[in-house]
Amino acid sequence: MSRLKIAAGNWKMNKTFEDAMQLSRAIANASRDESVLTILGVPSIYLKMIVDQVLYVEGLEVAAQNCHSQPSGAYTGEISAPMLASIGVKYVILGHSERRADFAESNSELAEKVDIALENDLIPIFCCGESLQIRKSGKHLEYVTDQLKDSLFHLTEQQFSKLILAYEPIWAIGTGETATPEQAQEMHAHLRNAISLQYSQEIAAQVPILYGGSVKPSNAVEIFSQQDVDGGLVGGASLKSDDFTRIINSF
Ligand code: PGA
Repeated sequence: MSRLKIAAGNWKMNKTFEDAMQLSRAIANASRDESVLTILGVPSIYLKMIVDQVLYVEGLEVAAQNCHSQPSGAYTGEISAPMLASIGVKYVILGHSERRADFAESNSELAEKVDIALENDLIPIFCCGESLQIRKSGKHLEYVTDQLKDSLFHLTEQQFSKLILAYEPIWAIGTGETATPEQAQEMHAHLRNAISLQYSQEIAAQVPILYGGSVKPSNAVEIFSQQDVDGGLVGGASLKSDDFTRIINSF
């Protein structure tokens, strides 16, 4: 079964308005493989403008970087899933390790966020991944599987089949250190197997699993060529249109 190829950028808290619009315009106009689903994870303040800008651009979509677990209410400074849906956003990154670490997002809170995202027809790009300490202890496969179990395995088959997963070892994020293609493949195959045990082989075979952590033009081809790696969630290298375009064209 052939899965969707996906290149997702995570701009994090970068770019002022003019620069953000210029970057999305440059990616929209770049000579890019349109069969690759390209997703721009932009700061929430620019979401509506960029959604409108890329509305008719083939193969280009926009993601929020987070949403709240509640639909509305007294949560100053937060953004809800219904708000995102109401401006035409279709994807939301959930459970990024920076949010887990800096904003204490737990697996159970993420389960709620996944639920509310799906209720509002947003597709979660669900991030998982272990710290260096856990990797060194040899318990990384189990640890990441537990993240899926605790946040995702309550979903029905039909709900689960909508997800995009992103394996992002924390020790490889923004560090310049990349997991080897073999390390990525090992984890992706392990997760696919866990999904197959929980749901079915069909579901496991069709869910896209992205790798994230220092993906660059120079290593994307090798990482994306692994059997169970369906693309990348890219931080630093998604901030330059040339680099990101080269990554999109690395399949
Ligand atoms: P990086 O970030 O590509 O800069 O390592 C990846 C991510 O945090 O999603």
